[in-house]
Amino acid sequence: MSASAQESQYKNVVVIGAGVIGLTTALKIQEKGGYKVTVVAETLPSDPKTVRYTSLWAGAHHVSHAEGDPKQQKIDQDTFKVMWELSAPGGEAEQCFMRLPQEEYYVDHRDTQLNWMPDFKEIPKESLKEGTHWGVQFTTFTIDTPRYVNYLLSRFIARGGTVVRGSVQHLQQIAEGGPNAFSFNLAGRTVVDAIVVCAGIGARSLGGVEDKDVYPLRGQVVLIRAPWIKFGRTISNNTTGLWTYVIPRRSGDVILGGTKLEDDWYPVARPETTTDILERVFALCPELVSPEIRAQRAPTVDDIRPLIIEEGCGFRPGRRGGIRLETEWIEGKKGKIPVVHNYGHGGQGFQSSWGSANIAFELLEKALAEQK
Ligand SMILES: Cc1cc2nc3c(=O)[nH]c(=O)nc-3n(C[C@H](O)[C@H](O)[C@H](O)COP(=O)(O)OP(=O)(O)OC[C@H]3O[C@@H](n4cnc5c(N)ncnc54)[C@H](O)[C@@H]3O)c2cc1C
Ligand SMILES: *[C@@H]1O[C@H](CO)[C@@H](O)[C@H](O)[C@H]1NC(C)=O
Ligand SMILES: *[C@@H]1O[C@H](CO)[C@@H](O)[C@H](O)[C@H]1NC(C)=O
Repeated sequence: MSASAQESQYKNVVVIGAGVIGLTTALKIQEKGGYKVTVVAETLPSDPKTVRYTSLWAGAHHVSHAEGDPKQQKIDQDTFKVMWELSAPGGEAEQCFMRLPQEEYYVDHRDTQLNWMPDFKEIPKESLKEGTHWGVQFTTFTIDTPRYVNYLLSRFIARGGTVVRGSVQHLQQIAEGGPNAFSFNLAGRTVVDAIVVCAGIGARSLGGVEDKDVYPLRGQVVLIRAPWIKFGRTISNNTTGLWTYVIPRRSGDVILGGTKLEDDWYPVARPETTTDILERVFALCPELVSPEIRAQRAPTVDDIRPLIIEEGCGFRPGRRGGIRLETEWIEGKKGKIPVVHNYGHGGQGFQSSWGSANIAFELLEKALAEQK
């Protein structure tokens, strides 16, 4: 069989974006079989951290915020199932995860609908943090996000995926040039049958998409070294609209946060915000100070500063109307091709990644069936 006849047995799909959403969606398509998948992205998981790539900045943990939204709840639950398996002792990606007990405290009384989580219970009134009126605990996992996106990338490449670095200015570049548009050595791969857009915050400016409902939800974090922390803890304060969290990773590093400022494009850490985060996390979790110091004397917030590895911020890809999961059609080289959108995951891209990839994949298969 000639190379081109072999090629034609496969559908060529280009995924724009190599964040957690692009890579998860690419894997989902690839692992079905019958597809040649190329990821085209400006920034890749192993690049230095930049605000143009959100996934390296996330905590991250799986604590669903899907209250009252059954579709989102299913997306989060489907993702939990996949990641629970990946994180199992001896599991394929165990080293990227840490299973741990999680405590969630609320200043106001709130029904969280997290009762599907393993070991879920209400925290007894007498054990609540001062000033809080409600709390729940359960078992979840945290994700070492830089490690995890690199794991996704290597799994994709190991199974025959192609990765091309390129900054797409307009969807037409891919519609006409296919996976070859940014690379000149992929002979025979000029045809594209479908495009999947997983550009995160980039969907705001990517030509042919230019979705003005996409906006940054800037989150600043502090990364510290505190391997003695083996639990996650969050407090949500309805007065300030802020929530404060401690997210340890298997490596012994711990992410401290958080902030969530709409339409704030400032691209590096603000020192006064770091101070504010440290004060809030110290009040929430004095255990961040090493056990040795706490055995000797009363800890202070300044005992956390020497543990700092890095400060930074990321732009959660917010979207008015929620995650965009839908199909559009554009003119390709030989007729119309579908463009499946999967972006706008805000503060929940990791915990909704596999569930939204399932939906994007269903949209893709449906569109390709209609294309005939
Ligand atoms: C501080 C903080 C804490 C968070 N905590 C959590 C958490 O605990 N749990 C959770 O689930 N989520 C969390 N998130 C949210 C999560 O990080 C995001 O939802 C997720 O990373 C979004 O992934 P993405 O793939 O859509 O975008 P990104 O990771 O930004 O990837 C976008 C990709 O698209 C590419 N791209 C964009 N435009 C173009 C273009 N024109 N041409 C070529 N390539 C392009 C980029 O180069 C990149 O490869 C947190 C985020 C922050 C900032
Ligand atoms: C926050 O919650 C508390 C306790 O339920 C309530 O008394 C207070 O009015 C709320 N504040 C705001 C700003 O909503
Ligand atoms: C919530 O925020 C208010 C306003 O900053 C503050 O006075 C209060 O102490 C906070 N509550 C808790 C439990 O941290």
